[in-house]
Amino acid sequence: MTRAKIIGIGSYTPERVLTNKDLENMVDTSDEWIITRTGISERHIAADDEDTSDMCVRAAQGAFTMAGLIPEDVDLILAASVTPDFRVPSLACIIQKKLGAVNAAAMDIAAACAGFINGLTVARSFILTGAYKTILVFGAEKLSSITNYEDRNTCVLFGDAAGAAILTASDDGSGILSTYLKSDGRLNQLIHIPAGGTHAPFGVGNGDFRKADACLHMNGREVFKYAVRLMGDAALRVIKDAGLTPEQIDLFVPHQANIRIIRSTAERLHLPWEKVYLNIEKFGNTSAASVPLALDQALREGRIKKGDHVLGVAFGGGLTWGAVLFRW
Ligand code: ACO
Repeated sequence: MTRAKIIGIGSYTPERVLTNKDLENMVDTSDEWIITRTGISERHIAADDEDTSDMCVRAAQGAFTMAGLIPEDVDLILAASVTPDFRVPSLACIIQKKLGAVNAAAMDIAAACAGFINGLTVARSFILTGAYKTILVFGAEKLSSITNYEDRNTCVLFGDAAGAAILTASDDGSGILSTYLKSDGRLNQLIHIPAGGTHAPFGVGNGDFRKADACLHMNGREVFKYAVRLMGDAALRVIKDAGLTPEQIDLFVPHQANIRIIRSTAERLHLPWEKVYLNIEKFGNTSAASVPLALDQALREGRIKKGDHVLGVAFGGGLTWGAVLFRW
């Protein structure tokens, strides 16, 4: 049976580190509150002149090396991000230019923290129909560019990073066994950026927006409740669709939004803690970059072996959520 398979993966995190101690000097918070309520102790922040596309190019280097391919081999680029370099052109087109991937089509995917899972699902569909053969999927964010560092409800959570994966068709029994995507636009106000779109364009009508209006607003408590329920639902769905049971999962690679959300989801799946991959402490919530960053690190640390069943699950603004189940 032909499946879509990740043959190369890479990630990048910027050099600069913002610690909980640093945040104590910026807003009314404490290292103790952040670590106990979220599991985060530090996050990486991109340099001012470092765009999302620059981080993608760095992440892609690892993926190309692992796959033994060059940018000219790619025929489709999918870039998932809520922080593209520009509104026009797409992030995928900027990455295409920087990589020299001249033989590719390129498009963006907007699904917040679930963006990479959406990207993998689209890539898988194209590979299975034969429309594209070598697809480069990115999940990348410069969340620091849309974070209000005066709002303690959000600024302690987010970090910057990029992840990249190259997918091709495979007949060796490994690859993506199942995927699931879902959204509920009725809940769009739970995570949103009020200004900058057509609803409230900059510099039009009643003029100046506060900088805060161009940043992420979130009802964390409500999001938390949905995240716990919907991540578990999505995980159980892909496990069932693959004809497996939760005990057969070797590694759970969740979106790293909050350690308490991850713990609740793992408990619902009856997964022992050793089967959960965590990097939230060092990187925080990097939205679309979260799952590919964690997958890449898990693989390079030897946590994923050939034949393992690996479960990726993500949840974010929209609301959007989804899961993917690999046999590695
Ligand atoms: N430091 C200290 N106190 C704080 C901080 C902080 N950084 N932030 C909030 N508080 C306070 C609140 O003001 C509140 O005080 P009050 O009771 O006096 O009003 C108290 O702590 C509790 O606030 P809650 O919001 O109930 O705290 P909670 O335990 O829910 O944790 C958090 C908040 C971490 C945001 C959590 O709700 C969460 O992780 N939610 C999910 C976020 C998520 O998964 N987002 C994913 C999508 S992001 C995207 O799509 C880009």
